Amino acid sequence: MKAIIPAAGLGTRFLPATRCMPKELLPVLDKPVIQYVVEEALEPAGVDGVCIINSHEKPQIEEYFSVDEAFEKMLASRGKDALAAKVHEAASLPVTFAYQDDPKGLGHAVLCGAEAAGDEPFFVLLGDYFVPDRKMCVRMADVSAAHGGASVIAVAPVPEDQVSRYGIVAGECIGAHADYPGATGEEEGAIWKLSGLVEKPKREEAPSHLFIVGRYLLTPRVMELLKTQTPGAGGEIQLTDSLQRLLEEEEMYALVVDPDEGCDTGTPAAWAATNARMALSADPATVAAFNEALGRDGRDLLG
Ligand code: G1P
Repeated sequence: MKAIIPAAGLGTRFLPATRCMPKELLPVLDKPVIQYVVEEALEPAGVDGVCIINSHEKPQIEEYFSVDEAFEKMLASRGKDALAAKVHEAASLPVTFAYQDDPKGLGHAVLCGAEAAGDEPFFVLLGDYFVPDRKMCVRMADVSAAHGGASVIAVAPVPEDQVSRYGIVAGECIGAHADYPGATGEEEGAIWKLSGLVEKPKREEAPSHLFIVGRYLLTPRVMELLKTQTPGAGGEIQLTDSLQRLLEEEEMYALVVDPDEGCDTGTPAAWAATNARMALSADPATVAAFNEALGRDGRDLLG
């Protein structure tokens, strides 16, 4: 079973930084953002590989996930074995690439991974966000297994004035994940049976306040539907529109999550906050060094 990570975007929100460097390789502490997403994708039982949907403009991502023996030897020869091991570990992750050189929307990006996904269920993880404890996709797999292998998407409450920025779901709460006994409605851990999905609805047309967070476990049928998907919101081929068509053929479920369980790296401010959050939850030496670095400027910025 594979996971697909769309990563072909230009990273315009991070310009000028991303003019010569893909935003996916921006570091959070000592690892690029996309490595956190890849490691999260590999966490659920049965996921044995990740397909990154890249553009040919960003060969650096492919380079990062390729073993460079000469470089590792050079590090080792300088006594930097621990660093050589970290570099090797990242480069050895089971990552393949497919290309989307003409970005036509998220649905189109996912379809570019059809060959990698094969005739099996697959995960989709949007790359501007990662979950440090890697449990979100694992719980989604639990929900799918409890419902005959149905598709499951992660959703979360969003303020009413923001519904038009996201995909929004309709449905009813039917239970809770075992990790959240008694969760109901829009509470974390609640499970919904879906009756509809709509991409970027107007505020008055949104069927609920639950938005699609960017973690999907989907049956392979959606790849067939994506092949004939016409453009929707923003003139783009929307994954949400094909999921609505999938729902007309198959049952579909949603797991309510706490989006703060994950870290947002989609804007410079969010990325900076994620670095601070990860530094403050790292090993004690890193926490101390981070606080000292802030304090040295005479500003105890984070309290
Ligand atoms: C995409 C999806 C949307 C989802 C969102 C989460 O939108 O189409 O359904 O809610 O990601 O970030 P985008 O952010 O690409 O406009």
